[in-house]
Amino acid sequence: MGAFIEARALYYTVGHQNIVENATISLPAGRLIIVVGPNGAGKSTLLRLLSGELRPTSGSIVCAGEKLQGTPTWRLARRRAVMAQATQLAFPFTVNEVVRIGLETLGANTRGSEADAIVAQCLRRADILQLACRKYHTLSGGEQQRTHFARVLCQLAAGRRSESAQALYLDEPVASLDLRHQLMLLDAAREIAKSGIAVMAILHDLNLAVAYADELVVMHAGRIVASGNPADVLAGGIVADVFGVDLRLCATPPGNTPFVLPHGHARRVAWRLPTPPVENRFQPLPIQEGATTQRSEPRATLPGIENTSMSFSFWP
Ligand SMILES: Nc1ncnc2c1ncn2[C@@H]1O[C@H](COP(=O)(O)OP(=O)(O)OP(=O)(O)O)[C@@H](O)[C@H]1O
Ligand SMILES: [Mg+2]
Repeated sequence: MGAFIEARALYYTVGHQNIVENATISLPAGRLIIVVGPNGAGKSTLLRLLSGELRPTSGSIVCAGEKLQGTPTWRLARRRAVMAQATQLAFPFTVNEVVRIGLETLGANTRGSEADAIVAQCLRRADILQLACRKYHTLSGGEQQRTHFARVLCQLAAGRRSESAQALYLDEPVASLDLRHQLMLLDAAREIAKSGIAVMAILHDLNLAVAYADELVVMHAGRIVASGNPADVLAGGIVADVFGVDLRLCATPPGNTPFVLPHGHARRVAWRLPTPPVENRFQPLPIQEGATTQRSEPRATLPGIENTSMSFSFWP
């Protein structure tokens, strides 16, 4: 199977900062590519470039054999579905209505029995059939995330009627999910990939990433710093370095799937709790028999109103 996306030398620059720098990546049909990297590494930005939501500052992206930037929006909506890292909904939609948004690519035919069947199937796949009539904004964080997963499944299923080359982009899709639903969602992502769709997912859980990825991509400071077979990428040691932690690489039978165990502390501490001042300003002053309470330290004052009757202290 060919590549759904071929991106070369991508840059996304804001001011003087390269948020994505010289990224070359392809998303082959039928493969699950998982991207990992620390906060701010540029993962979401890369995903938004590849999905056509952002325009690269320079570089080229070819999608299903066409220039991504020349692809009309309606066709893009049929070719790829995006589950963003955070989604705001302005109206009090029900779950059913949110999932139906994914049917927009079907055009006018969003009420037929075929459409109903697609929606029901996607609700079931995301394990939210029982929530279909609930208002979206009343759901828990994980239930909302599963609703969006059902929506993107629905969009893919609807687009499949006219497009054979498709991609699914998932930005931290399991961040709010319990363990069972994390596995359910990633099982579904893998199944979708097996059906010939290119799937790209961003995860923070390295062990889930290694367990599910056909290919692991590591990003750091806007750059793709490693990619390939997950076990090889982990064995290379770069993951520990980009996250700034010590990782022990282990393997579980059967199949000796590798997993990592963090140990020790984070290597670099960028920020520390401020140490309290040596003198404790809240310490009560000793009260002597027959004496009025005296303050022995400078009075704390509100800024700008020193020497007025509004001065205050922590100790009366
Ligand atoms: N439009 C923008 N203007 C300025 N800075 C930006 C802009 N978009 C992204 N950034 C910065 O670029 C960096 C990469 O952002 P991005 O959202 O791609 O990171 P990420 O790898 O997805 O991180 P996370 O794991 O926290 O989701 C961040 O430091 C972010 O603050
Ligand atoms: Mg992100």
